[in-house]
Amino acid sequence: MAINRDWWKNRIAYQVYPRSFCDGNGDGTGDLKGITSKLDYLKDLGVGVVWLSPVYRSPMDDGGYDISDYCDIDPLFGNMADMDELLAEAKKRDIRILMDLVINHCSDEHPWFQKALREPDSEEAGYFWFRESAGGPPNNWRSMFGGSAWENVGGDRYYMHLFSKKQPDLNWENPKLREKLVETIRFWLDKGLGGFRIDAITHIKKMEGLPSGPADGPDGMVGCFAYTRCIEGIGDFLTELREATFDQYECMTVAEAAGVPNEQLVDYIGPKGYFSTMFDFSYSEPYSYGHGWHTCKGPGEWDFRTWRNALYASQLFTQKIGYGAVFLENHDYPRACQKFVPEKDHSPAVQMMLGNLFFFLRGIPFIYQGQELGMTNPSFTSIDVIDDISTKNHYRVALADGLTPEEAMPLVARYSRDNARIPFPWDDSENGGFAPAGVKPWLPVHPDYKTVNAKAEMANPKGVYAFYKEMIRLRTESEYAKTILEGKFAPILKQYDKLIAYTREGEKKLAVICSLSDKTRKIKLPFGVKNLVLSSLDSYKLEGNILTLKPYQSVTLEIEEAF
Ligand code: NOJ
Repeated sequence: MAINRDWWKNRIAYQVYPRSFCDGNGDGTGDLKGITSKLDYLKDLGVGVVWLSPVYRSPMDDGGYDISDYCDIDPLFGNMADMDELLAEAKKRDIRILMDLVINHCSDEHPWFQKALREPDSEEAGYFWFRESAGGPPNNWRSMFGGSAWENVGGDRYYMHLFSKKQPDLNWENPKLREKLVETIRFWLDKGLGGFRIDAITHIKKMEGLPSGPADGPDGMVGCFAYTRCIEGIGDFLTELREATFDQYECMTVAEAAGVPNEQLVDYIGPKGYFSTMFDFSYSEPYSYGHGWHTCKGPGEWDFRTWRNALYASQLFTQKIGYGAVFLENHDYPRACQKFVPEKDHSPAVQMMLGNLFFFLRGIPFIYQGQELGMTNPSFTSIDVIDDISTKNHYRVALADGLTPEEAMPLVARYSRDNARIPFPWDDSENGGFAPAGVKPWLPVHPDYKTVNAKAEMANPKGVYAFYKEMIRLRTESEYAKTILEGKFAPILKQYDKLIAYTREGEKKLAVICSLSDKTRKIKLPFGVKNLVLSSLDSYKLEGNILTLKPYQSVTLEIEEAF
């Protein structure tokens, strides 16, 4: 029977951060049993694909993105029987599970690496990037988590790590290593997994000769992107991988494919692409971090049009060749309103507008846990409660730049990855119902959990949750579903600042108009309006072709032919 390659397209995807979704065994950490117990919640929301951040065995240096056994479950999350149960229960509900495939690097506690350390001539040593270098690291690349991308292991011997030093990079030039990875992937797909979200995959090829580059900071180092991202030849590895694995299963793959130039998108997600779909990060961060989060611009302080152009360009390029994956939040970012809207303006209605902005773009929408509740950053006030390695690094950089701890913490906290990693609030009981009363959750619950939680949101017909449910219904079951799924994307009303506006044209014609202005404004529409499909606020005013939008309001309209 022919394999259906498109089964995922009309589904809604949802990212679960397992450590923080639901604690099934009462130890303060979320786990697989907890996730299984909440499948009905996901089903009821309308979810058809669930991406689990890593649950493999791991020392948890980088939240599980440092894997020490690819074919086992970390005891923190349960065991293989729990995983099998989750897969079976999800299948009963027609939900397909994606695991996180982290194969650019593994953990330094993986037996391969341990053997490589002990026996420099072993086969396993060839799975990594070891180099001999006298008098300092083999080159001046800076790792993505700060500091040199090389770690010394005694004498002149170093290994490469593009992320933390507990995440040695795997050497994809080695065919034996590639075979091992293929075996692992097939192990999971044979279990009936829905597929994978694939981590940091554009980094698996390094520039030939591993050359140093001109320093771009006072540390004398150079960012590793130019030397390790989308490097020529990567396609050979990715084609081989696809043919040996994904091609043979009815699975979906969504690549974390940062840095792919538009003209190469076709290789990644075109008809013969390496992956089913991918996340495009070109518009996910409107600001640039500079050399540390403390120097980064705050919400609304960056150039709106540059960000908007990136979003439009991504949609326009992608629709020519394939089907993207669209998202607003994930486990690596602060909550969306903190990224896009100044603090003084935050409200549930603003979160609905942001939801509306991304949800009807062309692509499969990924909701990050808690986004549907309108969760916000919890405002961490002390570095002591932070687990995220990246936040700790940026805090150190801020202190090294001369900031006091009191100055550094609020600036770094704004961008902390732990903002999105705190426990999911299920109700207003102690610990937000995430873990039993009396148990300390691994990260603090949000101070607002008594009012912002799943139970309260589900009972609120005007809340963020109800708004997401309606968007899901519109995308999957309504008369507009086909148009939202496949319709052509085109940006409109570009003359207006602080406005994201686009049409989707298929069986029907829709216009999505989202204001990011804090003022009420009038917009002159270049088309007639048939219907209001959705508004983030109760009020909706259209006089002739003049649409009045309140601050941060979004509307989705069914429109007439001419525009
Ligand atoms: C991307 C993941 O999303 C992030 O959480 C992780 O730190 C890096 N890749 C390294 O695996």
